[in-house]
Amino acid sequence: MTLKHTISLLAGLLVAITLARAEPEVPVDLPAFKEGQYVHQAPTVQDLIANENIHPELKKVILKGRDMFMNTQQLRGKYVFNDLNCKSCHMGEGRMNWSGPVWPAATTLPDFRGKNQHVNSLEERIAGCFAFSMNGKPPPYGSDDMLAMVAYHKWLATGAPVYEKNIGGRGFSHLGREKPELSYQRGKEVYLENCAVCHGENGQGQKKDGAVVFPPLWGNGSYNWGAGMTRIFTAASFIKNNMPLGKPGSLTDDEAWQVANFINSQERPQDPRYTGNVKETREKYLNFHKHTNYGTVVNGDLLGDHDNTGDKPFLKPDVLRPRTFE
Ligand code: HEC
Ligand code: HEC
Repeated sequence: MTLKHTISLLAGLLVAITLARAEPEVPVDLPAFKEGQYVHQAPTVQDLIANENIHPELKKVILKGRDMFMNTQQLRGKYVFNDLNCKSCHMGEGRMNWSGPVWPAATTLPDFRGKNQHVNSLEERIAGCFAFSMNGKPPPYGSDDMLAMVAYHKWLATGAPVYEKNIGGRGFSHLGREKPELSYQRGKEVYLENCAVCHGENGQGQKKDGAVVFPPLWGNGSYNWGAGMTRIFTAASFIKNNMPLGKPGSLTDDEAWQVANFINSQERPQDPRYTGNVKETREKYLNFHKHTNYGTVVNGDLLGDHDNTGDKPFLKPDVLRPRTFE
């Protein structure tokens, strides 16, 4: 580690520590819930431990799922091939509204999913984030690891109505899908001013003693070109409501859009659905990629035009398959 990196890591840590102390635990300036929406209070670990109606064996399994969710890096090289944890994007243990709370998947699935054009189960939804966001492959369906993950998601949903879809604070899309006019240069300025101190000048994130402290935003350590976060509108809303860490809501909507466009104009591991031709892949999955910069030319480079799968020794996990009921 160079001196410059050490200084930058220390500066980032200092900012994080100061902010964590100064700010209330609930983020500031978040959007209001709409009339008629279901708003969920997911249980906490303290609730779990205190609840005598949950069998000790089930508690153990839920806590194992939570541990995998918080420290997904323990599965590095097995199911995970980048530097992220589930909680890197689903902040606050996957419980937090406006930061993609994960419990709705437990109450709204099985359901049809546009991304893969078939009816998905909860296991399959979790598998999706392993395959794209974690640039990896999911634990096998029905395995102990998958059961633990499912148990954690289901338990977080305790008390929520089944198949209720009007959920306050779900996902990351409150800024809508209509992009403003985007400028790479403007996004870069917002990035250097507000993000580089933690995520690094080249988006590589920062590690301390081999452990990820600040996750990377692009490059081999980041989410791949098929991940939901590559959609500019998804990243813009995530950033608006969660970043800079400790100061959520402090960027203007326009700044959030500009910086989302900037980070998603950088290279990252190939989309597992790659056909061997980036333009063809973009066309084939245009429903998704019309919201990304994949297969478009930015600063003279055709983004995603490569065979790089990052640290992952394969392109597509076998379990990602079409499903029909004919
Ligand atoms: C790079 C960011 C990122 C990481 C890391 C990530 N996810 Fe996600 N996740 C997303 C995005 C984006 C969505 C889609 C949200 C939306 O619908 O707008 C999502 C959606 C989900 C959902 C569906 C939530 C709902 O409202 O139905 C579940 C469940 C989920 N993720 C689980 C996981 C698990 C488990 C992991 C770790 C193995 C993980 N995610 C890692 C970005 C991420
Ligand atoms: C004080 C340090 C800090 C600052 C400043 C900061 N972040 Fe983050 N960011 C984090 C941490 C830590 C996480 C992971 C959250 C967790 O694990 O709880 C994260 C997660 C993310 C993620 C999702 C995970 C990933 O690696 O893709 C994105 C995207 C992101 N930040 C973008 C930004 C942007 C854009 C800015 C500037 C507007 C910014 N961050 C500023 C610390 C920071």
